[in-house]
Amino acid sequence: QLILDTLDKQGTIKDTRTLVLPGQSDPAATHDAQIIILGALNSLSSREMITYTTQETLSHVLTPEGASIALNGSHEALVWAAVPAKGEGEPITPKQLEEKIGGEAAKVGQGRAFKNKWIAKEGNGLVKLASSIDDATQKEMREVDSTGTLKAGEKALAELRKRKLITQKKGQWFTVHKGPSFSTSTAKPETDLTTDMLTSGAWKTSTFKKYNFEAEGVPTSGGALHPLLKVREEIRNIFLEMGFAEMPTSSFVESGFWCFDSLFVPQQHPAREVQDTFYLSDPSTSLDPPKKYYETVSKVHEHGGFGSTGYRAPWSDAESRKLLLRTHTTASSAAMLWKLAARCRGEKDDPEVEALAAHTGTTRSSKDTGDGFRPAKLFSIDRVFRNETMDATHLAEFHQVEGVVADRDLTLADLIGFMKVFFKKMGIENLRFKPAYNPYTEPSLEIFAFHPQLHKWVEVGNSGMFRPEMLEPMGFPKDVHVHGWGISLERPTMIRYGINNIRTLVGHKNSIESVEKSPAVRF
Ligand code: PHE
Repeated sequence: QLILDTLDKQGTIKDTRTLVLPGQSDPAATHDAQIIILGALNSLSSREMITYTTQETLSHVLTPEGASIALNGSHEALVWAAVPAKGEGEPITPKQLEEKIGGEAAKVGQGRAFKNKWIAKEGNGLVKLASSIDDATQKEMREVDSTGTLKAGEKALAELRKRKLITQKKGQWFTVHKGPSFSTSTAKPETDLTTDMLTSGAWKTSTFKKYNFEAEGVPTSGGALHPLLKVREEIRNIFLEMGFAEMPTSSFVESGFWCFDSLFVPQQHPAREVQDTFYLSDPSTSLDPPKKYYETVSKVHEHGGFGSTGYRAPWSDAESRKLLLRTHTTASSAAMLWKLAARCRGEKDDPEVEALAAHTGTTRSSKDTGDGFRPAKLFSIDRVFRNETMDATHLAEFHQVEGVVADRDLTLADLIGFMKVFFKKMGIENLRFKPAYNPYTEPSLEIFAFHPQLHKWVEVGNSGMFRPEMLEPMGFPKDVHVHGWGISLERPTMIRYGINNIRTLVGHKNSIESVEKSPAVRF
């Protein structure tokens, strides 16, 4: 407002250092005052109310020593003040003087005080020679402090610079002219054209702020892939280059039938208890499973069949129909295998299988014996849920990487051979296999890999040959064998990124910044 009013009165402001800012008594000659003025000039010129040009100056500011002199007086003045007047008490010794005003002031100040004839020697001590003094140095300091320069001129300034009481500082001041949109009103211009302005017609008379095309834009924040998704993509690529097709795994909610019964997991198995599995209360039961298949599965469980004695325990329809969050993606594999066997059951090919078959590469044998069987290599990478105690390495949900290969006369050696190729593509060459137990596979193998950083063998997967009690009720011919395996997605990801607490990788403790910065993974 001061700038606008002054322009209104004078037409131009030649030197902004002559302005007197509100609440001040002196003109705005200091650096700080000019900075404040510059802020106002920028704001006014962006609205084209003024134009201005910048003039560079060199001004002076006080050093800490100079500032202390401005406040307390020069060293020589301190010396003079500390010395007794002639005939008034004992002359002060140099040592006493030092104690009184400090070594530095005593040393520097004495010389000048002598030169100014302010003090004189008397015996071993000092006495006042002048009854009053004019502390020119302090005056100079105060002048520089308020004006940035000395009226006395450059020679005097150079002397003070030599004494390290002042230093030069680049400064600036401004010349201001009226701009094309000059007015004395500082009412804020509009920044946006709004619907209201358009409908009321106010846009015709409003003043708008000019676009500043030089302004730096707001940094854009695009999406970023979570480390788990990066590793998933790499593993997916391995499967695809090995001729696998991806299974649909969208059903997080499964029935006890598909998650357990179809896999020949006994209905009394501990994994099915609520401590291990999340069950749904609403809806609490599944839709009808495929009738004939359901009957066959329940019969094999209860009484046996296909060369098996079964579990010889009463079958519970309620157990089978419970709805749950799938505890493994093998539930989806089972459903897919059942669809794959449709042609073997003499039914029409399942459209989902047909779509996948188009993507599946050749398997070892594709001899067609007229029983409708078609080999398949299928994989999935998706989320599973377990009612587990959470700690540094366990969450209630995680991702499984799972695959199945269905072909005639597959053996355990095929499974092991597959593992070697698969893990080699992930950069893991040192594998060991340990016999294990799964209700749905026999034999079963746990897979261990040597971890060069941890320097020990770590479990990387679980696998096996699916049991005939699982495959034959689906309708697969006897010579069709299926091997399958599951590995976690989190473990290789944590190893890759050097993360040792899963909660820094997944969940609310995972920082968006680390996600944005996490490098891509290449196996
Ligand atoms: N479902 C098993 C698990 O959750 C993995 C697996 C899949 C094992 C297929 C064998 C065959 O650990």
